[in-house]
Amino acid sequence: MSEVIGGVFTSHVPAIGSAIARGLQQDPYWKPFFDGFDPVHEFLHREKPDVAVVFYNDHGLNFFLDKMPTFAIGAATEYRHEDEGWGISFPRPYPGHQALSWHIIEEVVKSDFDPVTCQAMTVDHAVAVPFELAWPGAEEFPVKLIPIAINTVQHPLPSARRCYNLGKAVGRALESWQGDEKIVVLGTGGLSHQLEGGRAGHINSDYDRFCLRNLARDPEALLQHDVLDIVELAGSQGVEILNWIAARGALHGSVRELASNYHVPISNTAAATVLLENRVTVSA
Ligand code: DHB
Ligand code: FE
Repeated sequence: MSEVIGGVFTSHVPAIGSAIARGLQQDPYWKPFFDGFDPVHEFLHREKPDVAVVFYNDHGLNFFLDKMPTFAIGAATEYRHEDEGWGISFPRPYPGHQALSWHIIEEVVKSDFDPVTCQAMTVDHAVAVPFELAWPGAEEFPVKLIPIAINTVQHPLPSARRCYNLGKAVGRALESWQGDEKIVVLGTGGLSHQLEGGRAGHINSDYDRFCLRNLARDPEALLQHDVLDIVELAGSQGVEILNWIAARGALHGSVRELASNYHVPISNTAAATVLLENRVTVSA
């Protein structure tokens, strides 16, 4: 019987990757952020998931502005990180889980979603940085990756409700999977930040704290804002909260917050890490 054990939600700022490469985890600038991963490491060490389903946004690496799917799901045997210009390099490959990828694709299409299916896919810092944070140091990643990319980059963006419902459809697919894997979901990006234009540097701690307060106990509260309102509230990249909303949708059991960390800023971003436990036994 497979089981969705919980969710890890984290910012994916590329500079975190450089800090890891330079061993700066205890540096005063970085420590408050990296310390937020202690409970995540304990949880992952204890639970030992086999699969990570990662909701993230591609930043112009695998998809560019000329072809931008609203939703795309990886179905490759392996994924590799490539650097789209941040000067970071993560050579460890990410093994895929093709059979489960296809099962998810089949099920979400039955639920009226139309994802692009990617049998070859590169992943950027939005997958690589969270993986380095979650599983530091090991020679090989102990989980198989299923990447699910959501367009948070080029308008029109999907609504928060659409992303939540995609997550729910993925959750149902995981529930109906006839395997025995332990599955963790990841939502990456956010919280509030804007990297360009007149509002570059925009951070909105009130909105961030609203999201953090409600993620576990009342995720539907995050659906009240129109996606353009989220851009206004959280910044043009803060809308990456859509990835968190989708990942939260995939948790369908009794959800409990085990840890939450908020630290402003890391680079230009209000950085946050949340760990949610999902207690439900998936039927086989
Ligand atoms: C930063 C944050 C991001 O989410 C990203 O994709 C790139 C850069 C930053 O704050 O530097
Ligand atoms: Fe980003």
